[in-house]
Amino acid sequence: MSANRQGKARLKNFGWDPYEGPRSPRRLLGLLAGAVRLIWEANPRLVVVFVGLQLLSSAAFGFALLVVRNLVSTLLSAGQASAGFGSVIPELAVLGGVLAFTSLSGSVQNYVRMLLAEEVSWLADQRVLDVACAVELEAFDSNDFHDRLMRAQSAGGRPFMITQTLLQLSGSLTTLTGLLIVLLLLQPLLVAVLLVTVVPLLVAATVFSAEFHFFAMSFSTADRWRWYLRSLLIGREMAKEVRAFDLSGQLRNWQKEAFDEKMAGYRDLVRRSIPRTLVAGLAASAAIAGTLAVLIWFVLTGRMPLASATAATVAIVQLAQLLSQLAFGVSQLYESALFLDDHRAFCELLPTIHRTRPSRPAPVDFEEVRVEHLTFAYPDSSAPALDDVSLSFRRGEIVALVGENGSGKTTLAKLLSLLYRPQSGRILWDEIELVEVDATALRRSMAVLFQDFGKYMVSVALNIGMGRVEASEDRTAVVRAARKAGAHEFVERLPAGYDTPLGMVFEDGADLSEGQWQRIALARAFFRDAPFIILDEPTAALDARAENQLFESIRGLFRGRTVLLISHRFSSVRSADRIFVLKGGRLHEEGTHDELMRVGGHYAELFQLQAAAYLSGEPA
Ligand SMILES: Nc1ncnc2c1ncn2[C@@H]1O[C@H](COP(=O)(O)OP(=O)(O)O)[C@@H](O)[C@H]1O
Ligand SMILES: [Mg+2]
Repeated sequence: MSANRQGKARLKNFGWDPYEGPRSPRRLLGLLAGAVRLIWEANPRLVVVFVGLQLLSSAAFGFALLVVRNLVSTLLSAGQASAGFGSVIPELAVLGGVLAFTSLSGSVQNYVRMLLAEEVSWLADQRVLDVACAVELEAFDSNDFHDRLMRAQSAGGRPFMITQTLLQLSGSLTTLTGLLIVLLLLQPLLVAVLLVTVVPLLVAATVFSAEFHFFAMSFSTADRWRWYLRSLLIGREMAKEVRAFDLSGQLRNWQKEAFDEKMAGYRDLVRRSIPRTLVAGLAASAAIAGTLAVLIWFVLTGRMPLASATAATVAIVQLAQLLSQLAFGVSQLYESALFLDDHRAFCELLPTIHRTRPSRPAPVDFEEVRVEHLTFAYPDSSAPALDDVSLSFRRGEIVALVGENGSGKTTLAKLLSLLYRPQSGRILWDEIELVEVDATALRRSMAVLFQDFGKYMVSVALNIGMGRVEASEDRTAVVRAARKAGAHEFVERLPAGYDTPLGMVFEDGADLSEGQWQRIALARAFFRDAPFIILDEPTAALDARAENQLFESIRGLFRGRTVLLISHRFSSVRSADRIFVLKGGRLHEEGTHDELMRVGGHYAELFQLQAAAYLSGEPA
C-alpha cells in the first residue's frame, strides 16, 4: 500500500467536529484573555518585569522627546554666540541616560522574553499532558484523539505569540491614537475616510488566517503519519529492522510523498490568497488616494489652510502605515486564537473526564471474581473481541485462560484491569460492580504483566521498582522480586548489577535478551505485591525449560494470591486449578485439565496437537 493511499484511508475517518473557531468577538476576546492568563500563571514575576520594563521604556522614550524639544529651543533662543556648551550638558546627560536605559531594558526584555516563552510552553504542554494522562486507554485507539492531541500540542507556542502581538499592538495603538486625535482636530471627515482603508486589509488577513488554520487542521493526520515515519527512521527500536529489510529508502519516499502533498496544499492556499491580498491592497490604496483627494479639495475650496493640510498629509501617510500594521497584528491575534482554541478544547476535556469517572471506593480484595455476559468490541471494529463471556474464580486459585491467537485473551485481561469498559455485561468483585469503582484505586490491588510489557530505559532496579513506584527504593524487596522471577543471577553479572542502566540510549549500559527482559517484567509484577495477578503470556520469550520451571513454580511463587495465567500454549497450564478455553471471543469450555481431556473437545484437540508438534519437532 502506498503511503498516500494509507494516508488517505486514515484521513477518511478523521472525525473532528467541524467547529470553526471563535467566530464571535466575545469568544475571541475570551481566548485572548485565556492566553494572557496562561502567561501570568506561568510566571507572574517575569510578566511584571517584562511589562514594567516595556512601560518604562515607552515613558523614557516620551521623556527623551521632551528633552530634545527643550534642547532645540534652548539652542534656538540662546543663539550661537552666547550659548556655552555647558548650558546643554544636563540635557545631553539625560538623553544619554535615557538611551542607555532603553538599550539595556531592550536586552533585558529579550532575555525575559526567552525565559517566559519557555515557561509558557511548558505550562501549556503540562495542561495537555494532564488530559493525556487522565483519558481512558480507549482514547489511544482513536485517530481523532491523536489528531486533537497533536493540534493541542502545536498550539503550545501561541499564547506567547499572542502576548508579543498584544504588546506590539498596544505600542502602535498609542501612536495611532495620537495621530488620530491630531487629524480629528484638523478635519474629522478625513478620519472617517481613512478608517475605511483598514477594512479590506483586515478582511483579507483574517480570511487567510482562518484558511491557514483550517489547512493546518486538515493535515494533522498526515503530519502524524510523517512523524511516525520519522520515528521509524531515527528510533532505536526499529533501527534493526529498518536496516535488515533495507526500508529507509521507502520510508523516506513515503515521507516525501506526504510532504509534497502538504506543500501542494500550502501553495494552493497561498495562490488563492494572492488575488485577495492584491484587491485588498488596491482598495486600501484607493481609499488613501481618496482621502488625499478630499484633502486637496478642502484646500482648493478654502475649507482648510495650507499649513494644516501639510500636517494632515504627513499624519495620513503615517496613519495608513500604522493601520496596515494594525490589520496584520489583529489577524495574527485571530490566527493564534484559532490555534489556541484547539488547545482550549482539548484541555477542557479534563473536567469532563474527572466528572464522568466512577469514584466509588475500590475493594482491596475479593472472595470471588465474577464475569457475567461480558461483550466487548474495540472502537471501529464490527466483530466483538469478546462475546457473552461468563466465568468466575475464587481467591487463591490459579486460573488459566487459554485460546488460540486472537481468541480474546488479552482483551479479557484489559477488561479485568478496567482499561476498557465493556459494551454489556459486568465484572464483580464479590458484590461490587467494577464499572462504579475508581479504576486507579482498584489497580492497586492488581499486578498485570502484559504480553507486550514495557522496557524502560532506566536502571534494572528501577525497571523492577516501577511495579510499585513509591517503594522503588527498597533494594531488598527489588532483589527478592528478581530472585522470584529468576532474574537475580543474570542481573548480578551485569557491569553495575542492579544499578546498570538498560537500553543504552541515555547512558552506556547493557541490553538484555528478550527472555531476560521478560524476567525483569515478571519481577516487576512480583514487586507490585498485589492480591490479584494477571500474567499475559508470561513465558512467550522464555525457552522450554524455563517456561516449564516457571509454570511448575507459580503456585509457590504466588502463594495466597489469585493468579490469572494466560497462554496460547495449551500444554503449559495443565496444573492450573481451573482452565477456561476461549475460542473466537466466546467461552468454549471450562474445567480442570483432566476434565477437559476427558471431554475431548477443543482443549484436548489443541493440547494433543501442540504436544505432538513439540515431540516431532524436537531434534533427535
Ligand atoms: N486495540 C485494538 N483495536 C482493535 N482490535 C483489537 C485491538 N486489540 C485486539 N484487537 C482484536 O481483538 C481480537 C482479540 O485480540 P486479543 O484479545 O489480543 O487476542 P489474544 O490475546 O487471544 O491473542 C483480535 O481479533 C484482535 O485483532
Ligand atoms: Mg494476547
